[in-house]
Amino acid sequence: MTNDHPKNDLARTELAGKRVAFLGAGKMGGIILQALLKNGLLSPASTCATVAHEERAKALAAKLNVTVGTSNPDAVKRADIIVIGVKPQVVEDVIREIADFITPAQVIVSVAASVPTAMIEKNLPPLVPVIRAMPNTPSAVGAGMTAICKGKHASAEQVALTCHMFDAVGRTVVVDEKHMDAVTGLSASGPAYIYVILESLAEAGVKVGLPRDIATLLAAQTTLGAAKVVLETGDHPALLKDAVTTPAGCTIDALMELEEGKLRVTLIKAVVKAAQRAKELAYG
Ligand SMILES: NC(=O)c1ccc[n+]([C@@H]2O[C@H](COP(=O)([O-])OP(=O)(O)OC[C@H]3O[C@@H](n4cnc5c(N)ncnc54)[C@H](OP(=O)(O)O)[C@@H]3O)[C@@H](O)[C@H]2O)c1
Repeated sequence: MTNDHPKNDLARTELAGKRVAFLGAGKMGGIILQALLKNGLLSPASTCATVAHEERAKALAAKLNVTVGTSNPDAVKRADIIVIGVKPQVVEDVIREIADFITPAQVIVSVAASVPTAMIEKNLPPLVPVIRAMPNTPSAVGAGMTAICKGKHASAEQVALTCHMFDAVGRTVVVDEKHMDAVTGLSASGPAYIYVILESLAEAGVKVGLPRDIATLLAAQTTLGAAKVVLETGDHPALLKDAVTTPAGCTIDALMELEEGKLRVTLIKAVVKAAQRAKELAYG
């Protein structure tokens, strides 16, 4: 999974000597933590984490060779960067729990969906820098997409450092905070939509006689390839689709089926729903 890329050198330099605490090392927090350890951007000695359950803390500590506990105040006391990876509904409690131990020399990076930086800031001492990052699960293989926005007191340098941290597990983009719920609905939840599409394409391959493993490989590599072309050429997807669609050929027949099945509008509605839900979640 090592994402050995020159951008990692930059992140390595900037993170050198920094102590990072991950509060809530579950699926997402754990992915980022493990990726940064694997890429050598963080050392086990400078990293600690918390979870809710003692048994999970023990298991994670043994697996990652880092200090994992259940006390958030203990974890943040010596940390330079504090990554908040708990569920949105738990963020406020965790912030209140650590508030007395936080100073403006530290940086809070929250990956929680929906929770505004203002809500985190108001529960902390004045001037503490807060940044929101919205990653996705492909970060586990270095192909993540993370959108980052700054709160009131975070500096451009702190935003850049956060970008470098998440660059190590994929791509990053800086957005205004007003776009974070939309990002959640598109790229944070997005892998789930793509897995449904992949699963369906693989089923389709089976239906037309392919062995399942080959059908899954064809579907996944085709998805990866199409995405790579969009990213590398910057061409509009409609233009790229036209290049596959020979007049009176096979693809146009398939496209007609997709139109009849309302694939486009269904995907649009799915993202809209997820973005709406993201707006409610912090207090839901
Ligand atoms: N999953 C995604 O694709 C994704 C994408 C982008 C952003 N996010 C965001 O990432 C956050 C976590 O989501 P997730 O899917 O990773 O959930 P998760 O797997 O349930 O992780 C939550 C973690 O928080 C721990 N925890 C709960 N209460 C705690 C407390 N008071 N102090 C310290 N740790 C505590 C849990 O500990 P135990 O393990 O002991 O229960 C668990 O390890 C959410 O805010 C979500 O919006 C997730």
